[in-house]
Amino acid sequence: MTTISQKTTINATENSIVLCSKNSNFKNYGLSKAEIDYIKNEITKKEKKFVHINQLNRSVFIQITEAKKELYLTLEALRKAASTAHALIVADKIEQIAIVDEENNAAGTLAFAEGLALSNYQFLKYKKDKKKEQYSLKTISIYSKSISKTEIDELNVIVEATCICRTLVNEPVNFLTATQLSKEFQQLGKGAGFRVEVFDKAKIKALKMGGLLAVNRGSIDPPTFSIMEYKPKNAKNKQPIILVGKGVVYDTGGVSLKPTPNSMDMMKCDMAGAAAVGGTIYAIAKAKLPVHVIGLVPATDNRPGGNAYVPGDIITMYNGLTVEMLNADAEGRMILADALAYAQKYKPELVIDLATLTGAAVAAIGTSGIVAMGTADDTTKNQLKESGNLVYERLAEMPFWDDYDEMIKSDIADMKNLGGPHAGAITAGKFLARYIDYPWMHFDIAGPAFLTTKEAYRVKGGTGAGVRLLFNFLKDRTK
Ligand code: BES
Ligand code: MN
Ligand code: ZN
Repeated sequence: MTTISQKTTINATENSIVLCSKNSNFKNYGLSKAEIDYIKNEITKKEKKFVHINQLNRSVFIQITEAKKELYLTLEALRKAASTAHALIVADKIEQIAIVDEENNAAGTLAFAEGLALSNYQFLKYKKDKKKEQYSLKTISIYSKSISKTEIDELNVIVEATCICRTLVNEPVNFLTATQLSKEFQQLGKGAGFRVEVFDKAKIKALKMGGLLAVNRGSIDPPTFSIMEYKPKNAKNKQPIILVGKGVVYDTGGVSLKPTPNSMDMMKCDMAGAAAVGGTIYAIAKAKLPVHVIGLVPATDNRPGGNAYVPGDIITMYNGLTVEMLNADAEGRMILADALAYAQKYKPELVIDLATLTGAAVAAIGTSGIVAMGTADDTTKNQLKESGNLVYERLAEMPFWDDYDEMIKSDIADMKNLGGPHAGAITAGKFLARYIDYPWMHFDIAGPAFLTTKEAYRVKGGTGAGVRLLFNFLKDRTK
Protein backbone atom coordinates (compact mmCIF):
# COMPACT_ATOMS: atom_id res chain seq x y z
CA MET A 1 0.00 0.00 0.00
CA THR A 2 1.22 3.43 -0.93
CA THR A 3 0.66 5.94 1.82
CA ILE A 4 -0.28 9.51 1.10
CA SER A 5 0.65 12.16 3.64
CA GLN A 6 0.24 15.88 4.03
CA LYS A 7 3.15 18.31 4.02
CA THR A 8 3.21 21.94 4.99
CA THR A 9 6.36 23.20 3.28
CA ILE A 10 7.78 22.88 -0.20
CA ASN A 11 11.15 21.18 -0.19
CA ALA A 12 13.10 22.19 -3.28
CA THR A 13 15.48 19.24 -3.00
CA GLU A 14 13.04 16.35 -3.15
CA ASN A 15 11.35 14.63 -6.08
CA SER A 16 8.29 16.66 -6.94
CA ILE A 17 5.36 16.83 -9.30
CA VAL A 18 4.07 20.36 -9.65
CA LEU A 19 0.45 20.67 -10.73
CA CYS A 20 0.17 24.06 -12.35
CA SER A 21 -1.16 26.11 -15.24
CA LYS A 22 0.66 27.34 -18.33
CA ASN A 23 1.10 30.76 -16.74
CA SER A 24 2.98 29.55 -13.68
CA ASN A 25 6.38 31.18 -13.04
CA PHE A 26 7.90 27.90 -11.75
CA LYS A 27 9.97 29.88 -9.22
CA ASN A 28 9.54 27.97 -5.95
CA TYR A 29 10.70 24.53 -6.93
CA GLY A 30 14.50 24.70 -7.02
CA LEU A 31 14.73 25.05 -10.79
CA SER A 32 17.50 27.03 -12.52
CA LYS A 33 16.72 29.83 -14.96
CA ALA A 34 17.76 27.61 -17.85
CA GLU A 35 15.43 24.85 -16.65
CA ILE A 36 12.54 27.27 -16.27
CA ASP A 37 13.16 28.61 -19.79
CA TYR A 38 13.21 25.06 -21.06
CA ILE A 39 9.92 24.26 -19.34
CA LYS A 40 8.26 27.41 -20.70
CA ASN A 41 9.40 26.58 -24.19
CA GLU A 42 8.12 23.03 -23.97
CA ILE A 43 4.75 24.20 -22.69
CA THR A 44 4.12 27.16 -24.96
CA LYS A 45 5.90 26.30 -28.21
CA LYS A 46 5.55 22.54 -28.15
CA GLU A 47 2.23 22.53 -26.27
CA LYS A 48 3.43 19.83 -23.88
CA LYS A 49 1.31 19.11 -20.81
CA PHE A 50 4.00 17.20 -18.98
CA VAL A 51 7.69 18.06 -18.62
CA HIS A 52 10.36 16.07 -16.81
CA ILE A 53 13.45 17.83 -15.42
CA ASN A 54 16.05 15.31 -14.33
CA GLN A 55 18.40 17.07 -11.91
CA LEU A 56 21.46 15.49 -10.35
CA ASN A 57 19.77 14.26 -7.17
CA ARG A 58 16.10 14.60 -7.91
CA SER A 59 13.42 14.80 -10.56
CA VAL A 60 10.91 17.57 -11.03
CA PHE A 61 7.83 16.85 -13.10
CA ILE A 62 5.66 19.68 -14.32
CA GLN A 63 2.06 18.70 -14.94
CA ILE A 64 -0.18 21.26 -16.61
CA THR A 65 -3.76 20.93 -15.40
CA GLU A 66 -6.38 22.01 -17.86
CA ALA A 67 -10.05 22.40 -17.13
CA LYS A 68 -12.16 20.21 -19.42
CA LYS A 69 -15.81 20.79 -20.27
CA GLU A 70 -16.94 19.21 -17.02
CA LEU A 71 -15.25 18.85 -13.65
CA TYR A 72 -15.44 15.05 -13.74
CA LEU A 73 -13.60 14.99 -17.07
CA THR A 74 -10.84 17.17 -15.63
CA LEU A 75 -10.50 14.86 -12.64
CA GLU A 76 -10.26 11.76 -14.81
CA ALA A 77 -7.67 13.41 -17.08
CA LEU A 78 -5.55 14.02 -13.97
CA ARG A 79 -5.89 10.44 -12.71
CA LYS A 80 -4.76 9.27 -16.12
CA ALA A 81 -1.91 11.78 -16.24
CA ALA A 82 -0.79 10.40 -12.88
CA SER A 83 -0.63 6.94 -14.36
CA THR A 84 1.69 8.22 -17.11
CA ALA A 85 3.83 9.97 -14.49
CA HIS A 86 3.89 6.75 -12.47
CA ALA A 87 5.67 4.91 -15.28
CA LEU A 88 8.46 7.51 -15.28
CA ILE A 89 8.66 7.59 -11.49
CA VAL A 90 9.24 3.87 -11.20
CA ALA A 91 11.57 3.81 -14.21
CA ASP A 92 13.66 6.35 -12.26
CA LYS A 93 13.50 4.17 -9.12
CA ILE A 94 12.01 7.07 -7.18
CA GLU A 95 10.80 6.11 -3.67
CA GLN A 96 9.26 9.29 -2.41
CA ILE A 97 7.45 12.03 -4.29
CA ALA A 98 5.76 15.28 -3.36
CA ILE A 99 2.74 16.55 -5.26
CA VAL A 100 2.64 20.33 -5.19
CA ASP A 101 -0.75 21.94 -5.72
CA GLU A 102 0.20 25.30 -7.15
CA GLU A 103 -3.27 26.29 -8.26
CA ASN A 104 -5.21 25.54 -5.08
CA ASN A 105 -6.97 22.90 -7.11
CA ALA A 106 -8.00 20.61 -4.26
CA ALA A 107 -10.19 18.19 -6.21
CA GLY A 108 -7.71 17.95 -9.07
CA THR A 109 -4.77 17.34 -6.77
CA LEU A 110 -6.63 14.64 -4.84
CA ALA A 111 -7.58 12.98 -8.13
CA PHE A 112 -3.97 13.07 -9.29
CA ALA A 113 -2.76 11.55 -6.01
CA GLU A 114 -5.47 8.91 -6.27
CA GLY A 115 -4.41 8.03 -9.81
CA LEU A 116 -0.80 7.79 -8.73
CA ALA A 117 -1.51 5.60 -5.69
CA LEU A 118 -3.84 3.31 -7.64
CA SER A 119 -1.24 2.96 -10.41
CA ASN A 120 1.25 1.79 -7.80
CA TYR A 121 -0.81 -1.30 -6.92
CA GLN A 122 0.78 -4.69 -7.49
CA PHE A 123 -0.24 -8.25 -6.72
CA LEU A 124 3.05 -9.97 -5.89
CA LYS A 125 1.98 -12.52 -3.28
CA TYR A 126 2.87 -15.46 -5.48
CA LYS A 127 6.19 -14.13 -6.83
CA LYS A 128 9.29 -15.71 -5.31
CA ASP A 129 11.43 -12.65 -5.91
CA LYS A 130 9.01 -9.95 -4.77
CA LYS A 131 11.70 -7.35 -4.08
CA LYS A 132 12.94 -7.42 -7.62
CA GLU A 133 9.52 -6.74 -9.10
CA GLN A 134 8.26 -4.27 -6.53
CA TYR A 135 7.74 -0.71 -7.75
CA SER A 136 10.16 1.74 -6.14
CA LEU A 137 7.49 4.26 -5.10
CA LYS A 138 6.69 4.01 -1.36
CA THR A 139 5.24 7.33 -0.24
CA ILE A 140 3.37 10.22 -1.77
CA SER A 141 3.08 13.54 0.00
CA ILE A 142 0.80 16.43 -0.89
CA TYR A 143 1.57 20.09 -0.44
CA SER A 144 -1.62 22.11 -0.82
CA LYS A 145 -3.10 25.12 0.91
CA SER A 146 -6.60 23.94 0.09
CA ILE A 147 -6.55 20.27 1.13
CA SER A 148 -7.24 19.23 4.72
CA LYS A 149 -5.72 16.37 6.67
CA THR A 150 -9.19 14.78 6.79
CA GLU A 151 -9.40 14.74 3.01
CA ILE A 152 -6.03 13.05 2.77
CA ASP A 153 -7.01 10.50 5.42
CA GLU A 154 -10.13 9.74 3.43
CA LEU A 155 -8.20 9.36 0.21
CA ASN A 156 -5.92 6.84 1.92
CA VAL A 157 -8.94 4.87 3.03
CA ILE A 158 -10.43 4.86 -0.47
CA VAL A 159 -7.16 3.75 -2.06
CA GLU A 160 -6.64 1.07 0.56
CA ALA A 161 -10.16 -0.30 0.17
CA THR A 162 -9.88 -0.32 -3.62
CA CYS A 163 -6.61 -2.25 -3.37
CA ILE A 164 -8.10 -4.71 -0.87
CA CYS A 165 -10.89 -5.33 -3.37
CA ARG A 166 -8.38 -5.80 -6.20
CA THR A 167 -6.37 -8.32 -4.21
CA LEU A 168 -9.45 -10.36 -3.32
CA VAL A 169 -10.34 -10.49 -7.01
CA ASN A 170 -6.78 -11.42 -8.00
CA GLU A 171 -6.60 -14.28 -5.52
CA PRO A 172 -7.22 -17.58 -7.30
CA VAL A 173 -9.78 -20.09 -6.10
CA ASN A 174 -7.12 -22.53 -4.92
CA PHE A 175 -6.65 -20.01 -2.12
CA LEU A 176 -9.87 -18.03 -2.08
CA THR A 177 -12.64 -20.57 -1.55
CA ALA A 178 -16.03 -19.46 -0.28
CA THR A 179 -14.88 -20.27 3.26
CA GLN A 180 -11.70 -18.25 2.79
CA LEU A 181 -13.65 -15.32 1.37
CA SER A 182 -15.78 -15.21 4.50
CA LYS A 183 -12.61 -15.33 6.62
CA GLU A 184 -11.24 -12.39 4.66
CA PHE A 185 -14.41 -10.45 5.47
CA GLN A 186 -14.01 -11.28 9.16
CA GLN A 187 -10.46 -9.97 8.94
CA LEU A 188 -11.69 -6.74 7.32
CA GLY A 189 -14.33 -6.39 10.01
CA LYS A 190 -11.67 -6.61 12.71
CA GLY A 191 -9.48 -4.08 10.91
CA ALA A 192 -12.15 -1.45 10.33
CA GLY A 193 -14.63 -2.14 13.14
CA PHE A 194 -17.71 -3.73 11.66
CA ARG A 195 -19.62 -6.87 12.57
CA VAL A 196 -19.35 -9.99 10.43
CA GLU A 197 -21.50 -13.09 10.72
CA VAL A 198 -20.97 -16.13 8.52
CA PHE A 199 -23.61 -18.78 7.84
CA ASP A 200 -22.10 -22.20 7.13
CA LYS A 201 -23.62 -24.88 4.93
CA ALA A 202 -25.79 -26.31 7.72
CA LYS A 203 -27.29 -22.90 8.43
CA ILE A 204 -27.78 -22.21 4.71
CA LYS A 205 -29.61 -25.56 4.46
CA ALA A 206 -31.73 -24.77 7.49
CA LEU A 207 -32.68 -21.43 5.90
CA LYS A 208 -33.50 -23.25 2.64
CA MET A 209 -31.43 -21.01 0.41
CA GLY A 210 -32.19 -23.23 -2.55
CA GLY A 211 -30.41 -21.15 -5.19
CA LEU A 212 -27.11 -21.04 -3.34
CA LEU A 213 -27.33 -24.73 -2.46
CA ALA A 214 -28.15 -25.70 -6.06
CA VAL A 215 -25.12 -23.91 -7.48
CA ASN A 216 -22.96 -25.45 -4.76
CA ARG A 217 -24.01 -29.02 -5.54
CA GLY A 218 -21.25 -29.56 -8.10
CA SER A 219 -18.58 -28.46 -5.65
CA ILE A 220 -16.80 -30.30 -2.87
CA ASP A 221 -16.21 -27.02 -1.02
CA PRO A 222 -19.09 -25.74 1.13
CA PRO A 223 -20.91 -22.46 0.41
CA THR A 224 -20.95 -19.52 2.81
CA PHE A 225 -23.29 -16.63 3.35
CA SER A 226 -21.58 -13.61 4.91
CA ILE A 227 -23.35 -10.73 6.61
CA MET A 228 -21.37 -7.58 7.28
CA GLU A 229 -22.88 -4.75 9.26
CA TYR A 230 -21.68 -1.27 10.09
CA LYS A 231 -24.12 0.56 12.30
CA PRO A 232 -22.74 3.74 13.84
CA LYS A 233 -24.72 5.58 16.52
CA ASN A 234 -24.88 8.70 14.36
CA ALA A 235 -26.26 6.93 11.29
CA LYS A 236 -28.40 9.30 9.20
CA ASN A 237 -30.59 6.55 7.77
CA LYS A 238 -33.32 4.87 9.81
CA GLN A 239 -33.49 1.77 7.65
CA PRO A 240 -30.28 0.15 6.43
CA ILE A 241 -28.79 0.46 2.99
CA ILE A 242 -27.88 -3.04 1.83
CA LEU A 243 -25.11 -4.01 -0.56
CA VAL A 244 -25.31 -7.48 -2.06
CA GLY A 245 -22.30 -8.98 -3.84
CA LYS A 246 -22.06 -11.97 -6.15
CA GLY A 247 -19.51 -14.27 -4.55
CA VAL A 248 -18.89 -16.95 -7.16
CA VAL A 249 -15.29 -17.68 -6.22
CA TYR A 250 -14.86 -19.53 -9.50
CA ASP A 251 -17.21 -19.98 -12.42
CA THR A 252 -16.48 -22.98 -14.62
CA GLY A 253 -19.99 -22.72 -16.01
CA GLY A 254 -20.93 -25.88 -14.11
CA VAL A 255 -22.18 -28.67 -16.38
CA SER A 256 -22.77 -25.96 -19.00
CA LEU A 257 -18.99 -25.78 -19.02
CA LYS A 258 -17.28 -22.67 -20.34
CA PRO A 259 -14.58 -23.12 -22.94
CA THR A 260 -11.03 -22.32 -21.95
CA PRO A 261 -8.95 -20.28 -22.89
CA ASN A 262 -11.34 -17.59 -24.01
CA SER A 263 -13.93 -17.41 -21.30
CA MET A 264 -12.88 -19.47 -18.28
CA ASP A 265 -9.40 -18.06 -17.74
CA MET A 266 -10.52 -14.98 -15.87
CA MET A 267 -13.36 -16.58 -13.92
CA LYS A 268 -11.62 -16.22 -10.57
CA CYS A 269 -13.00 -12.68 -10.92
CA ASP A 270 -16.57 -13.87 -10.49
CA MET A 271 -16.60 -12.73 -6.87
CA ALA A 272 -15.70 -9.14 -7.79
CA GLY A 273 -19.14 -7.97 -6.64
CA ALA A 274 -18.54 -9.59 -3.25
CA ALA A 275 -15.08 -8.02 -3.05
CA ALA A 276 -16.53 -4.60 -3.87
CA VAL A 277 -19.10 -4.98 -1.08
CA GLY A 278 -16.40 -5.95 1.43
CA GLY A 279 -14.13 -3.14 0.26
CA THR A 280 -16.89 -0.54 0.42
CA ILE A 281 -18.01 -1.45 3.92
CA TYR A 282 -14.37 -1.48 5.02
CA ALA A 283 -13.92 2.06 3.67
CA ILE A 284 -17.16 3.31 5.20
CA ALA A 285 -16.29 1.90 8.62
CA LYS A 286 -12.72 3.21 8.50
CA ALA A 287 -13.87 6.66 7.44
CA LYS A 288 -16.68 6.44 10.04
CA LEU A 289 -19.35 7.65 7.63
CA PRO A 290 -22.68 8.16 9.42
CA VAL A 291 -24.51 5.47 7.51
CA HIS A 292 -25.98 2.13 8.52
CA VAL A 293 -24.91 -0.38 5.88
CA ILE A 294 -25.27 -4.12 5.61
CA GLY A 295 -23.39 -6.31 3.17
CA LEU A 296 -24.73 -9.69 2.08
CA VAL A 297 -22.50 -12.12 0.20
CA PRO A 298 -23.66 -15.54 -0.96
CA ALA A 299 -20.53 -17.45 -1.98
CA THR A 300 -19.67 -20.72 -3.69
CA ASP A 301 -17.70 -21.99 -6.65
CA ASN A 302 -19.65 -23.18 -9.69
CA ARG A 303 -18.39 -26.60 -10.78
CA PRO A 304 -19.58 -29.55 -12.83
CA GLY A 305 -18.77 -32.10 -10.08
CA GLY A 306 -20.66 -35.08 -8.70
CA ASN A 307 -24.19 -34.00 -8.05
CA ALA A 308 -24.10 -30.71 -9.93
CA TYR A 309 -27.39 -29.04 -10.79
CA VAL A 310 -28.36 -29.71 -14.39
CA PRO A 311 -30.60 -28.18 -17.05
CA GLY A 312 -34.15 -29.28 -16.36
CA ASP A 313 -33.84 -29.17 -12.57
CA ILE A 314 -36.51 -27.21 -10.76
CA ILE A 315 -35.22 -25.39 -7.75
CA THR A 316 -37.16 -23.89 -4.87
CA MET A 317 -35.57 -20.66 -3.83
CA TYR A 318 -35.30 -19.04 -0.36
CA ASN A 319 -38.54 -17.09 -0.87
CA GLY A 320 -40.45 -20.14 -2.14
CA LEU A 321 -40.46 -19.22 -5.83
CA THR A 322 -39.39 -22.00 -8.20
CA VAL A 323 -36.84 -21.79 -10.99
CA GLU A 324 -36.53 -24.05 -13.99
CA MET A 325 -32.80 -24.31 -14.39
CA LEU A 326 -31.79 -24.31 -18.05
CA ASN A 327 -28.17 -23.27 -17.98
CA ALA A 328 -25.72 -24.02 -15.19
CA ASP A 329 -23.67 -21.02 -16.28
CA ALA A 330 -26.44 -18.63 -15.26
CA GLU A 331 -25.49 -19.28 -11.64
CA GLY A 332 -24.99 -15.72 -10.43
CA ARG A 333 -28.69 -14.92 -10.47
CA MET A 334 -29.44 -18.13 -8.55
CA ILE A 335 -27.30 -17.18 -5.56
CA LEU A 336 -28.10 -13.46 -5.70
CA ALA A 337 -31.84 -14.17 -5.71
CA ASP A 338 -31.57 -15.85 -2.31
CA ALA A 339 -29.55 -12.96 -0.91
CA LEU A 340 -31.96 -10.36 -2.31
CA ALA A 341 -34.92 -12.23 -0.83
CA TYR A 342 -33.09 -12.49 2.48
CA ALA A 343 -32.52 -8.70 2.41
CA GLN A 344 -36.29 -8.16 2.67
CA LYS A 345 -36.24 -8.93 6.39
CA TYR A 346 -34.28 -5.75 7.08
CA LYS A 347 -36.91 -3.50 5.44
CA PRO A 348 -34.08 -1.65 3.70
CA GLU A 349 -34.18 1.92 2.47
CA LEU A 350 -32.24 0.85 -0.64
CA VAL A 351 -30.51 -2.28 -1.89
CA ILE A 352 -27.72 -2.26 -4.46
CA ASP A 353 -26.33 -5.49 -5.81
CA LEU A 354 -23.00 -5.76 -7.61
CA ALA A 355 -22.29 -8.74 -9.80
CA THR A 356 -20.11 -9.92 -12.65
CA LEU A 357 -23.38 -11.25 -13.96
CA THR A 358 -23.43 -11.41 -17.76
CA GLY A 359 -21.24 -11.48 -20.83
CA ALA A 360 -24.09 -9.49 -22.39
CA ALA A 361 -23.17 -6.49 -20.20
CA VAL A 362 -19.61 -6.64 -21.57
CA ALA A 363 -20.96 -6.98 -25.11
CA ALA A 364 -23.14 -3.90 -24.56
CA ILE A 365 -20.64 -1.38 -23.20
CA GLY A 366 -17.28 -3.11 -22.82
CA THR A 367 -15.09 -2.31 -19.85
CA SER A 368 -15.92 1.40 -19.83
CA GLY A 369 -18.68 1.39 -17.28
CA ILE A 370 -21.26 -0.40 -15.20
CA VAL A 371 -24.50 -1.68 -16.69
CA ALA A 372 -27.20 -0.48 -14.29
CA MET A 373 -30.93 -1.04 -13.90
CA GLY A 374 -33.47 -1.11 -11.13
CA THR A 375 -36.44 0.28 -9.31
CA ALA A 376 -34.91 3.01 -7.15
CA ASP A 377 -36.40 6.52 -7.45
CA ASP A 378 -34.98 9.02 -9.93
CA THR A 379 -33.26 11.09 -7.25
CA THR A 380 -31.29 8.03 -6.13
CA LYS A 381 -30.50 7.06 -9.70
CA ASN A 382 -29.26 10.56 -10.46
CA GLN A 383 -27.12 10.63 -7.31
CA LEU A 384 -25.60 7.32 -8.34
CA LYS A 385 -24.92 8.55 -11.87
CA GLU A 386 -23.33 11.72 -10.54
CA SER A 387 -21.06 9.74 -8.21
CA GLY A 388 -20.32 7.43 -11.10
CA ASN A 389 -19.10 10.33 -13.21
CA LEU A 390 -17.04 11.91 -10.44
CA VAL A 391 -15.10 8.73 -9.64
CA TYR A 392 -15.30 7.72 -13.30
CA GLU A 393 -17.11 4.46 -12.69
CA ARG A 394 -19.89 5.52 -14.97
CA LEU A 395 -23.35 4.00 -15.04
CA ALA A 396 -25.15 3.05 -18.23
CA GLU A 397 -28.80 2.60 -17.32
CA MET A 398 -30.67 -0.03 -19.30
CA PRO A 399 -34.40 -0.02 -20.03
CA PHE A 400 -36.33 -2.19 -17.63
CA TRP A 401 -39.55 -2.63 -19.60
CA ASP A 402 -42.16 -5.27 -18.89
CA ASP A 403 -41.37 -6.89 -22.25
CA TYR A 404 -38.31 -8.49 -20.75
CA ASP A 405 -40.34 -10.22 -18.02
CA GLU A 406 -41.88 -12.38 -20.75
CA MET A 407 -38.48 -13.74 -21.69
CA ILE A 408 -37.87 -15.54 -18.41
CA LYS A 409 -41.28 -17.22 -18.16
CA SER A 410 -41.30 -20.97 -17.68
CA ASP A 411 -44.13 -23.40 -18.50
CA ILE A 412 -43.57 -25.52 -15.44
CA ALA A 413 -41.94 -23.26 -12.84
CA ASP A 414 -42.33 -19.64 -11.70
CA MET A 415 -39.45 -18.58 -13.96
CA LYS A 416 -36.44 -19.94 -15.79
CA ASN A 417 -32.86 -18.90 -15.23
CA LEU A 418 -32.28 -18.17 -18.89
CA GLY A 419 -33.57 -15.40 -21.13
CA GLY A 420 -33.81 -15.28 -24.91
CA PRO A 421 -31.01 -14.63 -27.37
CA HIS A 422 -31.09 -10.85 -26.80
CA ALA A 423 -30.94 -8.39 -23.91
CA GLY A 424 -29.12 -10.87 -21.68
CA ALA A 425 -27.99 -8.30 -19.13
CA ILE A 426 -31.56 -7.06 -18.71
CA THR A 427 -33.25 -10.47 -18.47
CA ALA A 428 -30.72 -11.35 -15.76
CA GLY A 429 -31.79 -8.18 -13.95
CA LYS A 430 -35.45 -9.06 -14.47
CA PHE A 431 -34.83 -12.43 -12.86
CA LEU A 432 -33.40 -10.68 -9.79
CA ALA A 433 -36.35 -8.27 -9.71
CA ARG A 434 -38.60 -11.20 -8.77
CA TYR A 435 -36.89 -11.37 -5.38
CA ILE A 436 -37.16 -7.76 -4.19
CA ASP A 437 -39.83 -5.75 -2.39
CA TYR A 438 -37.80 -2.56 -1.83
CA PRO A 439 -36.07 0.19 -3.87
CA TRP A 440 -33.27 -1.57 -5.67
CA MET A 441 -30.45 -1.15 -8.17
CA HIS A 442 -28.56 -3.86 -9.98
CA PHE A 443 -25.00 -3.16 -11.15
CA ASP A 444 -23.59 -5.60 -13.65
CA ILE A 445 -19.82 -5.08 -13.35
CA ALA A 446 -18.75 -7.95 -15.63
CA GLY A 447 -16.94 -5.46 -17.92
CA PRO A 448 -15.01 -3.14 -15.61
CA ALA A 449 -14.26 -5.52 -12.70
CA PHE A 450 -11.35 -7.30 -14.31
CA LEU A 451 -9.08 -6.12 -17.12
CA THR A 452 -6.90 -8.26 -19.35
CA THR A 453 -4.93 -5.17 -20.37
CA LYS A 454 -4.31 -2.17 -18.16
CA GLU A 455 -6.29 1.02 -18.66
CA ALA A 456 -4.12 3.71 -17.04
CA TYR A 457 -4.55 3.59 -13.23
CA ARG A 458 -7.03 0.76 -13.60
CA VAL A 459 -4.40 -1.91 -13.62
CA LYS A 460 -4.49 -5.30 -15.26
CA GLY A 461 -6.48 -7.87 -13.26
CA GLY A 462 -8.93 -6.85 -10.54
CA THR A 463 -9.72 -3.12 -10.70
CA GLY A 464 -11.68 -2.60 -7.49
CA ALA A 465 -14.72 -1.52 -9.53
CA GLY A 466 -17.62 -0.33 -7.39
CA VAL A 467 -15.73 0.64 -4.24
CA ARG A 468 -15.00 4.26 -5.11
CA LEU A 469 -18.46 4.67 -6.62
CA LEU A 470 -20.35 3.38 -3.59
CA PHE A 471 -18.16 5.23 -1.11
CA ASN A 472 -18.74 8.51 -2.92
CA PHE A 473 -22.47 7.86 -3.22
CA LEU A 474 -22.97 6.90 0.42
CA LYS A 475 -20.87 9.82 1.60
CA ASP A 476 -22.92 12.30 -0.39
CA ARG A 477 -26.22 10.70 0.53
CA THR A 478 -25.55 11.05 4.24
CA LYS A 479 -24.12 14.56 4.18
N1 BES B 1 -19.72 -14.96 -14.62
C1 BES B 1 -20.39 -14.97 -15.84
C2 BES B 1 -20.47 -13.61 -16.52
C3 BES B 1 -19.16 -12.94 -16.90
C4 BES B 1 -18.77 -12.91 -18.22
C5 BES B 1 -18.38 -12.31 -15.97
C6 BES B 1 -17.61 -12.27 -18.58
C7 BES B 1 -17.20 -11.67 -16.33
C8 BES B 1 -16.83 -11.65 -17.64
C9 BES B 1 -21.84 -15.45 -15.63
O1 BES B 1 -22.03 -16.35 -14.60
C10 BES B 1 -22.26 -16.15 -16.87
O2 BES B 1 -21.69 -17.15 -17.18
N2 BES B 1 -23.26 -15.61 -17.54
C11 BES B 1 -23.77 -16.20 -18.72
C12 BES B 1 -25.28 -16.21 -18.61
C13 BES B 1 -25.95 -16.98 -19.70
C14 BES B 1 -25.66 -18.45 -19.57
C15 BES B 1 -27.43 -16.73 -19.59
C16 BES B 1 -23.33 -15.38 -19.91
O3 BES B 1 -23.29 -14.15 -19.79
O4 BES B 1 -22.95 -15.96 -20.92
MN1 MN C 1 -21.69 -18.34 -15.18
ZN1 ZN D 1 -20.70 -16.27 -13.09
